[in-house]
Amino acid sequence: MKNGVGVPQNIVLFGGTSEIGQAVVSALLQPGVARLTLVARDLDGSATFGDSIEGDTEVEIVRFDAADHSSMAAVVEEVSANGRDIDVAVIAHGVLAEGTDYYADPSAVHGLLAVNMTATAALLYALAARMRVQGYGRIILLSSVAGVRVRKGNPVYGASKAAVDSLALAVDHELEGTGVSILVVRPGFVVSKMTTGMKKAPFSSTPEAVAQIVARAVNSGTTIVYAPTVLRWVFGIFRLLPQAVWRRLPLG
Ligand SMILES: NC(=O)c1ccc[n+]([C@@H]2O[C@H](COP(=O)([O-])OP(=O)(O)OC[C@H]3O[C@@H](n4cnc5c(N)ncnc54)[C@H](OP(=O)(O)O)[C@@H]3O)[C@@H](O)[C@H]2O)c1
Repeated sequence: MKNGVGVPQNIVLFGGTSEIGQAVVSALLQPGVARLTLVARDLDGSATFGDSIEGDTEVEIVRFDAADHSSMAAVVEEVSANGRDIDVAVIAHGVLAEGTDYYADPSAVHGLLAVNMTATAALLYALAARMRVQGYGRIILLSSVAGVRVRKGNPVYGASKAAVDSLALAVDHELEGTGVSILVVRPGFVVSKMTTGMKKAPFSSTPEAVAQIVARAVNSGTTIVYAPTVLRWVFGIFRLLPQAVWRRLPLG
């Protein structure tokens, strides 16, 4: 529950070692945030981040496997044990699997889709169900411009983001009037460990820059933000281009 001055009491980060996720929670942390729960498979990496947090916020670490959709309801139950509400949940786990040859190994689609799509969808519903009972809550979903118009190069990643992005928008619509809402964040290329070794795309940004945009939007009624914001216009045009024009653009 938010305290008397509107500060969320409990923030939960799914993907506790995500560079963007950590930047987002760092931007949201302020005096009065009682607890930050880092949900991750890398407990040591999460603890290192937890130790860096200054102030009175209590840090808790919970293990999860973001490929296991069937465990998501139990994970949400664990982070909200003892009647503890979840005020803000940041969903930041994800895999890019750049360079995977899906033609050589079509079954490799499963690993990426399990994390980015199936488990994320199950987590969205598990969080929404819990927050509906509370009567409030904000879910921040790290989507991507890659899902706005899926390009060649990494179509499986783009399709996974398109799926969770549209699911989140429709669930947010269903949640209208419940006090629960979803903020869909669509970053472009962000310099993080996910993109290590890749050539920067135009309008590339940093986890901290994404976090500032999220922090400004979290307490508003906004449903979709782009990072950087100029990508709203770039992808607004991209999504309308005829397929023949889109295919001629020099996008990898
Ligand atoms: N970087 C970009 O250019 C960019 C652009 C647009 C959108 N995004 C999206 O933003 C989100 C965060 O990305 P990032 O840049 O912060 O990447 P990151 O630093 O590589 O973080 C990815 C996170 O996903 C976790 N993860 C992956 N598979 C997992 C599994 N099976 N179980 C548990 N955790 C798992 C990683 O855990 P480990 O540390 O244990 O591997 C890590 O915490 C992702 O959803 C990504 O798709 C990124």
